[in-house]
Amino acid sequence: MTNQQLKEEILRLKREKNAVILGHYYQRHEIQELSDHIGDSLALAQKAQQATADIIVFCGVHFMAETAKILNPNRKVLLPDMDASCSLAESCKAEDFAAFKSQHPDHMVISYVNCSAEIKAMSDLICTSGNAEKLVRSLPEDQKIIFAPDKNLGGYINHVTGRNMLLWNGVCSVHDAMQSEGILKLKIEHPEAPVVAHPECNAALLKVADFVGSTKAMLDFIAHSDAKEIIVATETGILYEMKKMCPNKHFITLQDDKSCACDDCAFMKLNTLEKLYLCLRDEQPEIIMDSKLIEQAKRPIVRMLDMSRQLGIIK
Ligand code: 13P
Ligand code: SF4
Repeated sequence: MTNQQLKEEILRLKREKNAVILGHYYQRHEIQELSDHIGDSLALAQKAQQATADIIVFCGVHFMAETAKILNPNRKVLLPDMDASCSLAESCKAEDFAAFKSQHPDHMVISYVNCSAEIKAMSDLICTSGNAEKLVRSLPEDQKIIFAPDKNLGGYINHVTGRNMLLWNGVCSVHDAMQSEGILKLKIEHPEAPVVAHPECNAALLKVADFVGSTKAMLDFIAHSDAKEIIVATETGILYEMKKMCPNKHFITLQDDKSCACDDCAFMKLNTLEKLYLCLRDEQPEIIMDSKLIEQAKRPIVRMLDMSRQLGIIK
């Protein structure tokens, strides 16, 4: 089938089966185009909670589809490629984390949504990059906190809030690999261009950024910036939305300087048009979860969404 035929078939199957496609900003452009809702982790978790379609096709990575299932357990949730994992989720195994947690019984656990359902079930509160800072600030100052699994995001939150959260030693393999030296070189070549960076980047890179924020916060920043050129330190899938929003701005990435595609998340890019078509046709791979695990993992996610509404982060 040609790409055009695949697109037509996907839309037909979606209508026939009353399915909704949720797509993360890091998906391939052709998948973003077909998605009913495109968003960052926080927006997509909210959409998953509100979904009324019979089938949710999650075009993202496994922990996102799992979160959709946890929030809407009576719907069928499909993920086009079950191997679409995440280095952060993989860095934090349930057994190891349980041992770490038991060493600090007086700490509450905040976990970044990029983790398995087992880790969520051991957490008091979930966060995303879009709400982490405000959620942490809303807690009593003397509250002891374990933050897992992203040491870069946790370190950044410690830096801006003055907290001293205990950090799990995980990283996003894509953002952590971006180097400040490359950004500094781009800054010299484009002195007027501000640098926007995702807080999953390493501390040295964040130090040279003009704006640090979640995917959605970076989109808001570029929409309101007068700059004609912007240096972007995050996964390159976001450029599709940035160019759509601001067609007259020029976005520069670390990839402009190299021949590799190392700013692409290989896990996110596992989902293809063909796999999306097959997944809608065959209604698999499906996320299947134990109901007790769903119950336990749901509590801290719902707490995150409720607190985010109370704090005015989401509607
Ligand atoms: P957000 O969608 O919260 O910006 O997270 C980025 C990311 O790396 C998702 O895997
Ligand atoms: Fe995980 Fe990083 Fe890929 Fe996001 S970009 S899914 S955090 S590896």
